[in-house]
Amino acid sequence: MSTATPEAEATTPRHLADPVITIDDFSVDYAGQVTTHAVKNVSLTLGRGEILGLAGESGCGKSTLAYGITRLLKPPALITSGSATFHSREGWSADLSTLSGDELRQFRWDKISMVFQGAMNSLNPVISIQAQLEDVFTTHRPELSRAERVQKCGDLLERVGVDRSRLKSFPHELSGGMRQRVMIAMAMALDPQVMIMDEPTTALDVVVQREILDEITRLRAELGFAVIFITHDLPLLLEISDRIAVMKAGEIVELNDAYELYTNPRNDYTKRLLASFPSLTGERGDFIRTGVADDRLEETKQADADEDAANEGAPA
Ligand SMILES: Nc1ncnc2c1ncn2[C@@H]1O[C@H](COP(=O)(O)OP(=O)(O)O)[C@@H](O)[C@H]1O
Ligand SMILES: [Mg+2]
Repeated sequence: MSTATPEAEATTPRHLADPVITIDDFSVDYAGQVTTHAVKNVSLTLGRGEILGLAGESGCGKSTLAYGITRLLKPPALITSGSATFHSREGWSADLSTLSGDELRQFRWDKISMVFQGAMNSLNPVISIQAQLEDVFTTHRPELSRAERVQKCGDLLERVGVDRSRLKSFPHELSGGMRQRVMIAMAMALDPQVMIMDEPTTALDVVVQREILDEITRLRAELGFAVIFITHDLPLLLEISDRIAVMKAGEIVELNDAYELYTNPRNDYTKRLLASFPSLTGERGDFIRTGVADDRLEETKQADADEDAANEGAPA
């Protein structure tokens, strides 16, 4: 529940008025003969129900940040500064660094869930999809009856666009896209408030990738979870994100509304990153923002096209 006054709400950005995760001055090192400062003093706020894109080239620290805030890092990784705080929709907050092992495990599926790069390969090949989905409920929702569990597993699959008859299948009987959908279904099983997706569609072909992105966008609208969506693929992020953070060498160098970042990048690195995708810098900038209700990019492109048409008619 927000305590902001109506006047404050009018001026406070939505992600600050109603945050679900606040990351403050977060740093991670990998200790070794040479210490790598993988994440350096990162501060950012994830708004409730927001899709925040985290962009940046391979090795810039995106995964380390995601693993760090959810405390999945193992030595030689060391959190050297900062904190990450979860703000529940019920009104309480928890500093993730203060949770014990058991609390953290509970927390991870229930409040914050994750879909990791190559997650589809982490399904157990000799166990049916149903048994693997059921396992989440058996562990975290022991009060459910067997029939309720099976019903929920079927519902989950249908939610991500997989027919419930697939419950009986084994992972090798499903395509990569379907297995990735199963992993997304699993991450949504307990109605988390945040989903962290680390390159969730990178291994998939473009058509399947598009279908899954549409699905994530639709489900976000329906269920209201927030997403930290990590990828090196900036055009993809522009399509689905409300805001985008650009990371370089462990630091957030720019963080802005997706539309602002595309039309008015301020940081040189962001400009270079945008320029490195020809599809964004071609005459028409041929991407369509499918996800969020934001027609401004379309209007911008239409205005560009109109201008081009007018120029073509003018004498040289
Ligand atoms: N287990 C590890 N041990 C040592 N260095 C690591 C380890 N994991 C990642 N790194 C280093 O940390 C930096 C950030 O890596 P990572 O978070 O995986 O980047 P990204 O996800 O953006 O590709 C890189 O320089 C990488 O080499
Ligand atoms: Mg990574």
